[in-house]
Amino acid sequence: MKSVYIRGNASLYGEVTIQGSKNAALPIMAAALLVPGVCVLENCPRISDVECMCRILESIGCGVVRKGRQIRIDAASLTGSRLPGEYVARMRSSVMLMGPLLGRLGEVSLCHPGGCVIGDRPIDMHIRALSRMGASCRDDGSLLFASSCGLRGTLIRLDYPSVGATENVIMAAVLADGVTCLENCAQEPEIARLCEFLTCCGASIARKGPGRLMIRGQSRLRPCVYTIPADRIVAGTYLCACLAAGGEVFLRGAPAGENDALEKTAERMGAGLERTPAGLLVRRTGSLLSPGEVTTGSFPSFPTDLQSPLLAAMAQAEGESRLKETVFNGRFGVAEELNRMGAGITVEKDLARIPGGRKLTGRRVRARELRGGAALVVAGLCARGDTLVENRGYVDRGYEDICRDLRLLGASVQEG
Ligand code: UD1
Repeated sequence: MKSVYIRGNASLYGEVTIQGSKNAALPIMAAALLVPGVCVLENCPRISDVECMCRILESIGCGVVRKGRQIRIDAASLTGSRLPGEYVARMRSSVMLMGPLLGRLGEVSLCHPGGCVIGDRPIDMHIRALSRMGASCRDDGSLLFASSCGLRGTLIRLDYPSVGATENVIMAAVLADGVTCLENCAQEPEIARLCEFLTCCGASIARKGPGRLMIRGQSRLRPCVYTIPADRIVAGTYLCACLAAGGEVFLRGAPAGENDALEKTAERMGAGLERTPAGLLVRRTGSLLSPGEVTTGSFPSFPTDLQSPLLAAMAQAEGESRLKETVFNGRFGVAEELNRMGAGITVEKDLARIPGGRKLTGRRVRARELRGGAALVVAGLCARGDTLVENRGYVDRGYEDICRDLRLLGASVQEG
């Protein structure tokens, strides 16, 4: 079992370059299926979820060539629409292949997608939206089948701005017959990146106000070269690490305007932030203060993916903090492990109360999902003594090399 070993009580000083974004790369890789030719994606993060997506694409007949951080995807001759259970069960994002495969081949079948254990993750909105576009979907309990004799554009209003459902509809709509008007859709930066990529391929997508997209279907898309942007969640995790451990770090390439909710929270907690064209300078040399209450939500609210790393920082702030989780109903699992380190967090339904003012103690703890695992590494940096985070595999799903990055910031962190 892979793990991370962290020597605690460290302040962070140094510079790290932020890797390419997982949540931008995965849907864009899925969207490459819509293009009968070779798309070249630069700056793809070297993480296990991207590897998993490469294997899925290969299994349905795509040519996939990876050279460093460049991935070339040749979807000219797709041979199948049945997604391999072994990989689909590992990764939630495989559901995003439904839209492009329906668009390109008119059919898709897959087992129920897996992913991190952070609460219920139904796909009813995906199914309802694709059905409205003319797909017939059948679920026999273990396998999902969807087929269509040609998707058609229509008006779709999502019940909730789901990121994945928004991406699926966009990908289904770019080759559909007619115009799709998508309302109450997600506005996360990764949606804009997917639209950018598809527009480079010749898709017609217009933003008609907040949460509203108009997509005019085309008969064919063309290949393009696209660079995956920096990962706002990785940048945010390292910002939380500096907040928790103290010090001064430069996050090279940290995207501007994508982490405003976190940056405002960090300033309330006593951090000094300086934005330069090259990245973000984070300084926390004085006391760490409670930010009061923070509530997660869809963009531009505080991102649920940074809730756990912030929880680790809040554990040591002066005064009580509260964290309200409104996106996933099972995302406080990490509190139990943080409590083993002395955080004293109490969770009631969607609200965590963090008493603060605690000096965490290094322990052997266990990651149970991606962002919670990263939060335990953050906690380990500022704990008294040494921490061993087991199940590093979860963290590797989203972080290229968290040990390398934190060592660049001066921490004593080893992989085991
Ligand atoms: C994506 C991100 C994930 C992030 C999340 C919210 C990727 C690969 N993953 O996940 O990192 O935490 O957005 O920002 O980009 N829901 C339904 N029915 C559906 C779909 C969603 O009820 O059909 C619910 C979910 O259970 C959840 C909420 O909507 O409570 C948000 O989910 P969604 O935005 O779809 O997240 P993902 O796309 O899975």
